Amino acid sequence: MANEAIPATPPPSVWSTLARFTRRYVLRYWVWFLAGLVFLLGTSWLAVQIPLELARGIDALRETGDLDAVRASAMKITWMGVVLIVVRTLSRVLFFTPGRLLEYRLRTDLFAHVITLQPSFFASHSAGDIINRASSDLQFVRAMVGFGILQVFNVVATVALTGQEMYRISPSLTALSLAPVLLSLILVQAGINRFFTLANQAQQQLGKVSDHLLASLQGVRTIQGFNAEGAFIERLRERDLNYTETNLKMAWVRTIIMPLLPIATTVSVYLLIAVGGPMAVAGKLSVGQIVAFVAYIGSLLFPLRGLGFMVTVFQRGFNSLERIDELLYAVAEQPEGPSPAAPPARLAAIELHDLKFAYPDAPDKPVLKGLTVTLPAGRILGVYGATGSGKSTLLRLLTRQRNPGPGQILLRGEDGQAVDLTAISLGEWRRRLAVVPQVPFLFSESIEQNIAMGDPDPARLTAAVRRAALEADLSALPEGLKTTVGERGIMLSGGQRQRAALARGLYRDFDLLVLDDVLSAVDQKTEQQLIHTLLELTAPGPDGRRPTVILVSHRLSALARADKVLVLQEGGLADFGGHEELLRRCPAYQEAWSEQQEHAAESNAVEVAP
Ligand SMILES: Nc1ncnc2c1ncn2[C@@H]1O[C@H](COP(=O)(O)OP(=O)(O)OP(=O)(O)O)[C@@H](O)[C@H]1O
Ligand SMILES: [Mg+2]
Repeated sequence: MANEAIPATPPPSVWSTLARFTRRYVLRYWVWFLAGLVFLLGTSWLAVQIPLELARGIDALRETGDLDAVRASAMKITWMGVVLIVVRTLSRVLFFTPGRLLEYRLRTDLFAHVITLQPSFFASHSAGDIINRASSDLQFVRAMVGFGILQVFNVVATVALTGQEMYRISPSLTALSLAPVLLSLILVQAGINRFFTLANQAQQQLGKVSDHLLASLQGVRTIQGFNAEGAFIERLRERDLNYTETNLKMAWVRTIIMPLLPIATTVSVYLLIAVGGPMAVAGKLSVGQIVAFVAYIGSLLFPLRGLGFMVTVFQRGFNSLERIDELLYAVAEQPEGPSPAAPPARLAAIELHDLKFAYPDAPDKPVLKGLTVTLPAGRILGVYGATGSGKSTLLRLLTRQRNPGPGQILLRGEDGQAVDLTAISLGEWRRRLAVVPQVPFLFSESIEQNIAMGDPDPARLTAAVRRAALEADLSALPEGLKTTVGERGIMLSGGQRQRAALARGLYRDFDLLVLDDVLSAVDQKTEQQLIHTLLELTAPGPDGRRPTVILVSHRLSALARADKVLVLQEGGLADFGGHEELLRRCPAYQEAWSEQQEHAAESNAVEVAP
């Protein structure tokens, strides 16, 4: 128990989960269910009438020999059969359709909610897990709503109507003929339980197989590069074997339980004839009634067989519903509270006050150890630091991908007012930002779509592409901006991918542009071109507005052009100042500068050497 995480809010009870689900999703289809119920009752009623008519026909034949009456009965049975087929089909369609519609709506809602959640949520839910919930769990919920509800009504209606008719004919025969059926139902139920335990197991094993396939296909070039195909095939073989074995067990269980009910029915019919036959001879029953009885046992068979599945369908449906609700009602981490403030209309500075941060999964390892500094707005601010010193983490806090503590980051407006970053509306703040992360993500769509992330505006696109120094690359691509970049941008070079992501950032209007190491894969010339873009961007606009650029880089040649540079050292602030200042007083900066200068001189020497 000690290790168990205690949920922040107690989970709602099964009943409140179900009530909320019914209110939000099931009840909107009540017309479908009501119509379905009417047709279902029609089906059950006809299923009782047909054997009765059959009994009448047989008895007429035996007792009076009135062929006209027999013919009339046959005609009636035929018509009732035709109507039964139509009514039965309609009842199914009316019950199953809302199940599908509900699945569609629930999946959309689920995606719309999950896509707004923050990194801490995705740290505890893998993509595979979320996909599972949005696919197979949803199917179980759909089965509960469609098949489950249909079965409840079906069992109740059939058992009530047919059972009543059987009881009317003979209470003792009813008890006698139902006994074997009920006994076999108990056995079948045990089998069904075992079957679904195995089915759950198979589901998880299949999940592992798919995870392995997905990861292997995504990393196929690494696997081939390291000649590791054999190991990966072996791992798949192992996982797939488990899955296959479980499926074979399931096939056995199914093979054993499936014939149980029909066998029990045969026994019932035997008992019926053995006991009912003498009763008919004694005149207590008619032959027609015995025939009707046999037909009734047959018509009870399917709903009763469905009973076991129905219980399981509801169990699994509840279970899945709870898993879906966990995503659907996951609370978005928004510490700004119910009435968030607006960010300052014009930013004068971003102030860090003893900014400390540790990732939730490594609470004992502080990544930022108390940064205090005022970053003036409207400038290019460089961030320098060794790898792992916390640069990306600082950017994540500024862009609120992670939450800083209250009062640790303040936004000061030109009017002198300061607002806590955690108190402002997340949406408002994100509208002011353009973020180009260190590992950019491209979607397998056209470059144009990747840059605009919505309806592309041609003029903006041209400007963004030019500023990101992507023009020359585009003209070499088969369809220019319309070229589809393949999964995760596989068709582009590393540098092209980086600049496409940069163009995505530059396409938007922003007050703060955050660039995490976007110069790592560009040559000297492109670097200078991009720096030029940044200088151009931070020149005052016609309204005097100047966006702020925060540029993380390892390249001091680029940072030399920044107005100020923040130097991080193992999560602490080593220095903050202009390039010349830092060269004079910051040892870490000096050292890096002379190393990089030497390196540049060497590579120039190599280039000019004959
Ligand atoms: N999601 C995370 N969970 C736990 N620890 C993390 C996470 N992301 C980063 N860290 C840790 O935080 C520290 C700082 O990482 P960060 O990515 O901020 O460094 P960086 O300065 O950007 O490095 P680089 O120059 O290599 O990009 C590292 O020690 C890293 O292991
Ligand atoms: Mg980084």
